[in-house]
Amino acid sequence: MSFDVLKIRKDFPALHQQVYGKPLVYFDNAATSQKPEAVINQIAEYYRTINSNVHRGVHYMSQQATDAFEGSRKRIQEYINAANHHEIIITKGATDSINLVANSFGRKFLDENAEVIISSLEHHANIVPWQVICEKQKAKLRVIPVTEAGTLDLKAFEQMINDKTKIVAVGHISNALGVVNPIKKIIAIAHQHNVPVMVDGAQGIVHDSIDVQAMGCDFYCFSSHKFYGPMGVGVLYGKEKWLEEMPPYQTGGEMIKSVTFEKTTYNELPFKFETGTPNVADVIGFKSAIDYIDGIGMESIKAYEDEILDYGIKKLKAIDGVKILADGAPKAGVISFLIDDIHPYDAGTIIDKFGIAVRTGNHCAQPIMDLLCIPGSIRASLAFYNTKDEIDRLAEAIITVKEMFA
Ligand code: ALA
Repeated sequence: MSFDVLKIRKDFPALHQQVYGKPLVYFDNAATSQKPEAVINQIAEYYRTINSNVHRGVHYMSQQATDAFEGSRKRIQEYINAANHHEIIITKGATDSINLVANSFGRKFLDENAEVIISSLEHHANIVPWQVICEKQKAKLRVIPVTEAGTLDLKAFEQMINDKTKIVAVGHISNALGVVNPIKKIIAIAHQHNVPVMVDGAQGIVHDSIDVQAMGCDFYCFSSHKFYGPMGVGVLYGKEKWLEEMPPYQTGGEMIKSVTFEKTTYNELPFKFETGTPNVADVIGFKSAIDYIDGIGMESIKAYEDEILDYGIKKLKAIDGVKILADGAPKAGVISFLIDDIHPYDAGTIIDKFGIAVRTGNHCAQPIMDLLCIPGSIRASLAFYNTKDEIDRLAEAIITVKEMFA
């Protein structure tokens, strides 16, 4: 069956609006994706019917809400093929998941003799938490460099990893450049040294099928809102072995087994890492997003996205003065580019007036922009509901930008 993008677009109400009198082109999917009607309806349905707190009440509504909430956890487990449902920790988002690992793993395993490895392509969310915990524990933060092609330098990584390395934390797909990292190779190298790997999958989950057991990662972090689900929900997948060894991150209700003023004992997984009332409606809404994506099939989505990405890169490259960043590197979902020496912010402001939403700036990845000696870029980040016609409209807008600055 061919991929019917026009039919799919009908499922996303926000796509059908005019911006500055022109049909919206939404190319800011790496920042957040639009939501299908099924997700929006599910959230409203929860508030209309079973809204109540989870894991607490004996009453009917609370049990319904708890069943639906735990049903979402099971669905996430199944979708990423985690071995156990208690290896799925519900968080506020990918950033929250990474902070959980950095703080909890860091407090237990990092000291003045330890090293942590991240990469040059990371989002700030996978830099700053490690910087802060390394500073606190007096550990050393090391950074895998990039090659001229914009890919991670695995030779340098192999030389960098040693007996002191306690964890490697890398992104699956770079949000700023769209570069797909050789995640399985990185994990294989790290595991040869018995070093666990945390993958920031904020973009990875969006553009490929994720099987955490086949991948072999020790932790995989992602958000719901980039994956067509609601905001305010994230996932930390962690291997049971590590989650059992790690101390709680935040403390309070839900994560406890018993509390006296003398001593508190902690709840079992996954609740040891889940404090306070969770975002029940949106966690349940996230299940609808996964059901929706699974209904189309990630294989079809990936094939279509790769096709429009390839079309977009060729189309934009054909415009004199357009420079695609990390051109030639393996990519998913993102075209990050510059137009002549026009400041990305100026270009983005004009492109916006064509009804086209792009992001400009450093995309929360300042170090890689500094390494490339640029202030930032213009980023068109694609989803499976985008079309070649929309890319043509972006190309026309770029030509106008060039004319205005000529
Ligand atoms: N990390 C998100 C982005 O890449 C917000 O735009």
